[in-house]
Amino acid sequence: MAALHSATPPRRPMRRLLRPLSLGVALSLALPLAGVSAACSASEGAVGGAAPGSGTQGASGIGDPDFPEDGNGGYDVEHYGLKLSYDPGSRRLSGSATVRARAVQDLTAFDLDLHGLTVSQVTVDGAAARFGRRDDELTISPVARIAKNARFDVTVDYAGVPDPIRNYANLGTYGFIATPDGSFVTCEPNGAKTWFPSNDHPSDKATYAFEITVPAGVTAIANGELAGTPVTSDGRTTFVWRERHPMASYLATMTTGRFETRTGESAAGTPIYAAVDPAFHGSLDTLYTKTGQITDYWSTVFGPYPFSSTGAVVDDYAAGYALENQTKPIYGGFAPDSGVMAHELAHQWFGDSVSITRWKDLWLNEGFATYAEWLWSEHEGGSTADTVFRNYYAKTADSMWSYPPGRAQRADLFNGSVYTRGAMTLHALRREIGDATFFALIKKWTASHQYGNATTEQFVGLAEQMSGKDLSGLFDAWLFQPRRPAAVA
Ligand code: TRP
Ligand code: ZN
Repeated sequence: MAALHSATPPRRPMRRLLRPLSLGVALSLALPLAGVSAACSASEGAVGGAAPGSGTQGASGIGDPDFPEDGNGGYDVEHYGLKLSYDPGSRRLSGSATVRARAVQDLTAFDLDLHGLTVSQVTVDGAAARFGRRDDELTISPVARIAKNARFDVTVDYAGVPDPIRNYANLGTYGFIATPDGSFVTCEPNGAKTWFPSNDHPSDKATYAFEITVPAGVTAIANGELAGTPVTSDGRTTFVWRERHPMASYLATMTTGRFETRTGESAAGTPIYAAVDPAFHGSLDTLYTKTGQITDYWSTVFGPYPFSSTGAVVDDYAAGYALENQTKPIYGGFAPDSGVMAHELAHQWFGDSVSITRWKDLWLNEGFATYAEWLWSEHEGGSTADTVFRNYYAKTADSMWSYPPGRAQRADLFNGSVYTRGAMTLHALRREIGDATFFALIKKWTASHQYGNATTEQFVGLAEQMSGKDLSGLFDAWLFQPRRPAAVA
């Protein structure tokens, strides 16, 4: 491996302040790789495990064993058309969400996920439908049964003051968060339901159109690209954004407030949208330039950039973390250094374009994005990935050794192990199969699951296929054992 360039310690990105890492209990869970069956296809509305709905009633969960009520069964969303209006003064959101879906079974009733907010009306294909609320489930009973494979449009009219999720499963505060001048909206893992009715699980991706109305002077930022110039009338401005590529619900955003923006194109020709709260005025140009440079660089390492634009948003809400919102990572209350940006932009390939099928495979997002930080450091002439790996490996007492990263735990989903030991897994793999095969594998991975969903088993399978090696021992030791793996050659 390459020589040591500098003694810069590995970064501790701010997003790890997300929550205190509580690893008081040593985990002794070890899942064997073999025998874990592949997940059902997402379009069947099930990722394995959860109880199906009864008869023709869609299930209240999509089947993620760790988050049994997240998402729903019985249908597959194709598109969300969201008309939203937000008033920062009263903190009131009102929305009309049209969800275009395809039934994957006969349906007499089905659920959408919605947290708080008051629903005034629901229609299915234009006809009023009965609906009920229980916890975060909105249950809809159309007048007529929906036949398996039929497409249907559900429109939900709703309003209220959004209530972000606070400390569910030890996850901190996320979802729609009101700020003095607007909203900071970061939804991983299941906070989309705090602002629109959805099939709130990454295994059901869909395209989006956003029509967001805010008081004049306020900017509304969502995913994808602006369609036309925002129109102001009667003191209110409407912004239309479209995300034409499939997107997981947790990556959707409607961040609003006072923003300074800069738009243009990267050297390789990808459109860039950068926005900063006026408090970060001095950071806008660097944010814009680095976003383009990093996006272009990753395109040479991971494969073509999967979306129609790239970007960055810095709001003054002091979240202390970042989120890889599709096409526009958001940085909460800080001007990111290029390592954090490299992480969030790498997620555009790992997490956003290639999405997980169930939350326990989260290392496929965070391990890859963390490994990207190491690659970026090496690219910039800082520590090499190999040095970063060795520094972590030398920490024999680190708590990550007792937490197997290949099985992210519901109560501690974003444990440091999922990030760091996940990244170390990739480096151990790289050393085992060599640089040429490793980087070919990464490109093949992003290409073959582009805009879709994937699992750990699929990654292991592809790595074995491309290297021609039995890698079960390596992956088992790095991903699934609650102990520090033996030294890598
Ligand atoms: N995925 C984020 C990152 O790696 C971390 C994160 C998890 C997060 N849940 C969040 C950020 C909720 C914002 C809100 O950078
Ligand atoms: Zn991340």
